[in-house]
Amino acid sequence: MGTGEEFAMEHARIGVVGAGMMGAEIASVFAIAGHEVRVTDRDAATLGSAPDRFSAILERSVAKGELAIDDAQRLQANFSTTATLEPFGACDVVVEAISEEMELKKALFARLDAICAAQCVLASNTSTIPISSLAASVAPARRSHLLGTHFFSPASRMPLVEVIAGIATADAVAERISTLLRKVGKTPIRVRDVPGFAVNRLLHAFLIEAVRLVEENVCDVEDIDVACKLGLGHPVGPFQLMDLSDNTLVLQVQEILKGAYGERFLPRPLLKLKVAAGERGRKTGRGWYGYA
Ligand SMILES: NC(=O)c1ccc[n+]([C@@H]2O[C@H](COP(=O)([O-])OP(=O)(O)OC[C@H]3O[C@@H](n4cnc5c(N)ncnc54)[C@H](O)[C@@H]3O)[C@@H](O)[C@H]2O)c1
Repeated sequence: MGTGEEFAMEHARIGVVGAGMMGAEIASVFAIAGHEVRVTDRDAATLGSAPDRFSAILERSVAKGELAIDDAQRLQANFSTTATLEPFGACDVVVEAISEEMELKKALFARLDAICAAQCVLASNTSTIPISSLAASVAPARRSHLLGTHFFSPASRMPLVEVIAGIATADAVAERISTLLRKVGKTPIRVRDVPGFAVNRLLHAFLIEAVRLVEENVCDVEDIDVACKLGLGHPVGPFQLMDLSDNTLVLQVQEILKGAYGERFLPRPLLKLKVAAGERGRKTGRGWYGYA
């Protein structure tokens, strides 16, 4: 497969697999920027609610004065769902945002490889899985067209995307995707394919220290969040952030970072206890805070 094929970026048809917390938001980024987007999820209820979640994002943009009502109504048509992967055969880019499990993702990429056109780019939103490992699940000819696009939550608001090239990713493909991301209002940075990429290494060093402060009774959860917001200028505190993203995922990422870099990423016992108790955060109604 050559790397010179160009899809017209302003008309790129986008597929998103996984309509959970990240997938629905990633789909909305492309749909709002004018792209035709198809979304799928193996869970019928999650898939069924995706258009409403897209409408809610549009309504928020209208309420903030970022979007005219007429435009919001028009953009709704850009977002459609499908229960099967076959329609992804017509996509130029497919973003994978399914659960963070290596075998699930590999099986999905193998299926997408069989369905998608030769020049279609496959992008993973994985937080921790090496892109080069995912590339091993597709035919050698596809590997130049598989890369990581790591969005941040909430993807409709956070501008950063880490663009990760695996060992076989063509530089031209990473550049083309970076250009597409800029066109939809994101700021891509190029990051090498190492565990945790760049941002999660910074973030988890910080989250681990925040939990350690609570364990050592230096400060309570609320005051650390206040400190980070008012003293460091963070929009949300570390405990609010863990609750927003899911403590189970936070622990999973730290286990992987510990495996890669050793003791400096050892997850704290209090985080493990929270996860063991099912206190995952907003998703379950209780985490570091309680939610109605
Ligand atoms: N939550 C975050 O803050 C965050 C941030 C950056 C990246 N990520 C990454 O994004 C990905 C998704 O995370 P999330 O928080 O949206 O998870 P989520 O659990 O909210 O959503 C995952 C969705 O994938 C669906 N799914 C699982 N296997 C599937 C398959 N084979 N085919 C179709 N759908 C399938 C599930 O039904 C679920 O709806 C993960 O790789 C995660 O590491 C998450």
